Amino acid sequence: MTHNLLQGKRGIIFGALNEQSIAWKVAVKAVEEGAVITLSNTPMALRMGQLDELGRQLNAPIIPADATSVDDLERVFTESMEKLGGPVDFLLHSIGMSPNVRKRRTYDNLDYGMLSKTLDISAVSFHKMLQVAKRLGAIADYGSVVALTYVAAQRTFFGYNDMADAKSLLESIARSFGYIYGREHHVRINTISQSPTPTTAGNGIKEMEHLMDFANKMSPLGNATADECADYCVVMFSDLTRKVTMQNLFHDGGFSSMGMSLRAMNQYSKDMKPYEDENGNIIYG
Ligand SMILES: NC(=O)c1ccc[n+]([C@@H]2O[C@H](COP(=O)([O-])OP(=O)(O)OC[C@H]3O[C@@H](n4cnc5c(N)ncnc54)[C@H](O)[C@@H]3O)[C@@H](O)[C@H]2O)c1
Repeated sequence: MTHNLLQGKRGIIFGALNEQSIAWKVAVKAVEEGAVITLSNTPMALRMGQLDELGRQLNAPIIPADATSVDDLERVFTESMEKLGGPVDFLLHSIGMSPNVRKRRTYDNLDYGMLSKTLDISAVSFHKMLQVAKRLGAIADYGSVVALTYVAAQRTFFGYNDMADAKSLLESIARSFGYIYGREHHVRINTISQSPTPTTAGNGIKEMEHLMDFANKMSPLGNATADECADYCVVMFSDLTRKVTMQNLFHDGGFSSMGMSLRAMNQYSKDMKPYEDENGNIIYG
């Protein structure tokens, strides 16, 4: 069921790779709700993913860009304004990647060159987007910007590694830029903190299926799906949320407010044995 929440609005969606991508679902729902959009991802993602198909399906021009490149971002905003007929009303940053996670380097053995890349791709790119957009006047007054994040920004999760630092920075950028963009242009900037979701980026996290099961058992409403996340993004892009800004909005079925649930307790009570290595030494952590 559609509500025409984005009728007459223009937007840019960064980060749709394949049908599992949260950005893919957001793009589909945004168009269903009446928006016209452009899509952007890296040239590599365009080769490896299925973005062409989505572009055709939604009649959405695709503008390749590495989101860490200011030149590329300038092109995305300039071309989007040309193709869509004016400044955009909404923007989705749905980008994350950690070379340390990919190379299986643990948090106490990070490669600092790779850490810089993690932060640049997953967080600083958001600042670059906002700075370029503001300079070019590419986001219309009363526009809405959303970036996707994860609760590991606030709490420690085994295996999330340097992405936790990137998400903390991302959320901080939303607040700091939200103040400036709000004050000058009524543009609101928020992050949505999504449940673990089975996507290409999500599956890169260690023991993702266990993390998803744990989160699901802990959350009174269960894990939020990518489709449900897209619904929330659409609401945030709509005129129904004009005074919401500089917030980290949890979209996680209640997980972030839980300590222990009956379902998790029940699961845990099935095996109280300590976690041991092959020599019988207890592994803490
Ligand atoms: N999947 C989860 O469990 C989960 C949970 C909370 C938040 N998130 C966040 O949601 C966002 C989207 O991830 P997803 O789960 O849909 O996975 P995904 O793999 O489909 O999307 C990640 C995207 O980042 C893009 N990307 C990587 N490097 C880039 C660069 N240099 N420039 C431009 N784009 C680049 C990839 O091409 C890909 O499209 C990420 O920020 C992720 O951290 C995901």
